Amino acid sequence: MDSDLIKLVNRLQDTFSNLGAGGELDMPQLVVVGSQSAGKSSVLENIVGRDFLPRGQGIVTRRPLVLQLIHTPSPDPAAPTYTEWGQFLHIDKRFTDFHEIRKEIEQETFRVAGQNKGISKLPISLKIYSPDVLDLTLVDLPGLTKIPVGDQPSDIERQIRGLVVEYISKPNSVILAVSAANVDLANSDALKLARSVDPQGRRTIGVLSKLDLMDAGTNALDILTGRVYPLKLGFIGVVNRSQQDINSEKSLPDALDSEAEFFRSHAAYRNIAHKNGTKYLARTLNQVLMNHIRDKLPDMKARLNTLMGQAQQELNSFGDAAIYGDKNQQGGLILRLMNKFAHDFVASIEGTKVDIS
Ligand code: GDP
Ligand code: NA
Ligand code: MG
Repeated sequence: MDSDLIKLVNRLQDTFSNLGAGGELDMPQLVVVGSQSAGKSSVLENIVGRDFLPRGQGIVTRRPLVLQLIHTPSPDPAAPTYTEWGQFLHIDKRFTDFHEIRKEIEQETFRVAGQNKGISKLPISLKIYSPDVLDLTLVDLPGLTKIPVGDQPSDIERQIRGLVVEYISKPNSVILAVSAANVDLANSDALKLARSVDPQGRRTIGVLSKLDLMDAGTNALDILTGRVYPLKLGFIGVVNRSQQDINSEKSLPDALDSEAEFFRSHAAYRNIAHKNGTKYLARTLNQVLMNHIRDKLPDMKARLNTLMGQAQQELNSFGDAAIYGDKNQQGGLILRLMNKFAHDFVASIEGTKVDIS
């Protein structure tokens, strides 16, 4: 199953990172980039289906946020329990109140990136478990800016650019490039930066936000149908909540309904309504991630075999203590764990058919 495949990959990633071997597998991630206030946080929240990200004017996101969405089964009405929660890597606590998640992100940002407007490369790691999400890993990054404000260092533009490039230059990251439709696409920082690391536009998805804010008499049909800017994965239009909607606390479900209605009833978009909007974006993201993993399977398997070979060698060098599990011999346990994971993983890859339509 597609979704099982991604769960397995996520679990493996955790295991390797716990073993201090992070990065060994170089897993794919979806990285969100765009100018400040292009609507990145809004897009992420819509995909997750919850209000939980710090938003606001100016530079709010000052550390990378690695957000892993994990699908959980729907609640059993006979045994009501929390089915939706957040879990950070830095604190051992289940967050069932999403406003608390937002507060924790803010506090963690302050703790590491300081009280001023500086940024830190150290990511915040957050998992969200919910019956309402598809399995995805997303990375939110500080918005691209041009001019230092307040007490920001004079090289803030370069700093943010460097941080963003660090994430999107990995050949296996999929770039979610968010541009606002009410700004000329030629001025899109997101697309410019994406192109610098993905010149063929093979792993960049264009997201066009603020379609509702375009000048009367204009539309983005040409962009959305790929006639303006070539991206193999295409452009998907979205309509997020306006500031007015946020102020009046418009709910996310209501916002998704309005968005669907916007595309259905718009003369220019009616015929492409089924290929736009937040729900279609989420489905597309999942599909892209799956294709990506499928492409990487042979390489991942080869690397795992290498790791297993190394583990075996090390195991041999530890002697009987490792093999029979001497408690003082930590290496033994770790190696066995690693070996078991690698073995299970390879077995499951071999037994998995990935269906790509
Ligand atoms: P970020 O800085 O890229 O994370 O952008 P935010 O998601 O925080 O959005 C910045 C502002 O733009 C907020 O006031 C949002 O309400 C507004 N906004 C974002 N997307 C849309 C959209 O599609 N339509 C409208 N009308 N407003 C939007
Ligand atoms: Na903002
Ligand atoms: Mg933001």
